[in-house]
Amino acid sequence: MKYLFFVLGYFAVIAGGNAQNALIIPPSISGTSFQLNVQNGTKVFYTGTSTPTYGINGPILAPTLIVNKGDSITLAVHNGLTVPTTMHWHGLHVAAYNDGGPGQIIGINATWSPSFVLRNNAGTYWYHPHGAGQTDPQVSKGLAGMIIIHDSAEMQLNLPRTYGVDDIPLIVQTKAFDVLQQIAISTEMDTAIFVNGTLHPTFQAPAQVIRFRLLNGSSMRSYNFGFSNNQSFYQIATDGGLKDTPVLLNRLRLSPGERAEILVDFQGMNGQNVDLISYASEMMNGIYGAAMVGMQEDTIDGYSQNFLNGADFTILNINIIPINASPVTSIPSSLTPYTPYNKDSSTVTRYIVFDTLRKLPLDRPNLADGPFGINNKSFSMDTINISTTINSQEVWVLVNKTLVAHPFHIHDVQFNVIEQSGSSPSTSQVGWKDVVLVLPQDSVKFVTRFETFANATVPYMYHCHLLHHEDDGMMGQFIVVDNTNTSIQPISNNTFDIFPNPANQQLKVIAGESVGSGTISLIDVSGRTVLTKNIANNSYPIQIDVASITNGLYYLVNSDPQQKHAAKVIIQH
Ligand code: C2O
Ligand code: CU
Repeated sequence: MKYLFFVLGYFAVIAGGNAQNALIIPPSISGTSFQLNVQNGTKVFYTGTSTPTYGINGPILAPTLIVNKGDSITLAVHNGLTVPTTMHWHGLHVAAYNDGGPGQIIGINATWSPSFVLRNNAGTYWYHPHGAGQTDPQVSKGLAGMIIIHDSAEMQLNLPRTYGVDDIPLIVQTKAFDVLQQIAISTEMDTAIFVNGTLHPTFQAPAQVIRFRLLNGSSMRSYNFGFSNNQSFYQIATDGGLKDTPVLLNRLRLSPGERAEILVDFQGMNGQNVDLISYASEMMNGIYGAAMVGMQEDTIDGYSQNFLNGADFTILNINIIPINASPVTSIPSSLTPYTPYNKDSSTVTRYIVFDTLRKLPLDRPNLADGPFGINNKSFSMDTINISTTINSQEVWVLVNKTLVAHPFHIHDVQFNVIEQSGSSPSTSQVGWKDVVLVLPQDSVKFVTRFETFANATVPYMYHCHLLHHEDDGMMGQFIVVDNTNTSIQPISNNTFDIFPNPANQQLKVIAGESVGSGTISLIDVSGRTVLTKNIANNSYPIQIDVASITNGLYYLVNSDPQQKHAAKVIIQH
């Protein structure tokens, strides 16, 4: 029965035909105050049927917000749906209570009005709902929009920036339709390819340098972009803004959530037709969209039924027309200076491990299809998984034990990838990033800094940006606390609270009441006491100098014989 459903779904897409439609350019709005009305809509994608959709200020997708770094903006997000929603500013560095995570629900008919200063560099960001378990259904039905930030460094460069003319948003998404041509989720048959909500899109590009802002807004699928005439192009920006110099490429892979800006030189090509293609046949197995994901019993049901998987397919037809009045005709030789975080000044290393989780004791989780967790936990609104400290610079090591590649995304910050598969990152990954694809049974290291917005109660998210995985619980919450202000430290009653852990120079300890007021000691794995500290009359947090302690695993224990407590500490210099 399931199979029949898929086959019919497949024919429905073919029946839609290949007639080309002019690429829709989402309307843009700029200024400092934005009214965003989340609403129900309908669209006729397939002749004779109207499909229910969601949109913002229109039936599908959302206006592009064009804003300037440094501006203070207010967004009034009104929920006109018949279900609750949320709105997250993906990539923006905002306080946790403005971030629009799963806790910031906008009720039916309610308006949420976050207001913040734009601190991000010029670049391409986006916004989409983020409700617990609701991201995929709401994004797939149409809720997603682009945010373009300009700043003075970017404005000084000779780059195309006339929106819709030579500066073109490309929100690339695949969707699945059921037999009634309703947008379907939780099927592998996402065979309909959309750009900016347009099926079979064609775009008229003047014969000059064109800037495409590529956003992979798909639920699951990665793309391997290239042009049908194999012409090269220049990547000028990663997720979080401009690179230092344009990088010449002929393929660029983007996983869900990732963005890139590219410059394509169409000079002298008036009258020609070029296709933007996803060369998925060249994508490594294990990446969702490649020919294969998983092996033996660890595969995804229905994956091989989808003819897009592992195939090269057209995303956008480009029809080159005469040059316009004010063309950009050259590629800048340099962009903006890039000063990444120095990994040597990081004080914390965290391991973020992707693995399968059992939902029931007897379930055998599937290494390709999940359910997946992070550090052995599924998302829970009530759990703060990680507590970071303000101004701490940290290395995060993402370890993927599964057979599918996961695009990892963290809120609040931008990071610099320092290692991918044990070597330096590829040039397309060098720069400011907020999503990075971690290949099957591989790892990625990045360095980042939690610079602003301490708040011990409202969390930020980190998660897999494959929306089925995110909605299924592959997400965690972190808070950024200010440990110079001890009054906001979460003190757990009967145990130690230790940070950072792993510790490098200073280990800070908050001891619950029952730990007593004697001494605490650090004991190594063979039971030898390596350090003892008197905690009577100590100010919180207790600081222990561990700079001269050898790397390794230790236990922190208290001296009270009645109420022994121990906590694991890793020392890592
Ligand atoms: Cu694009 Cu947490 O999301
Ligand atoms: Cu995932």
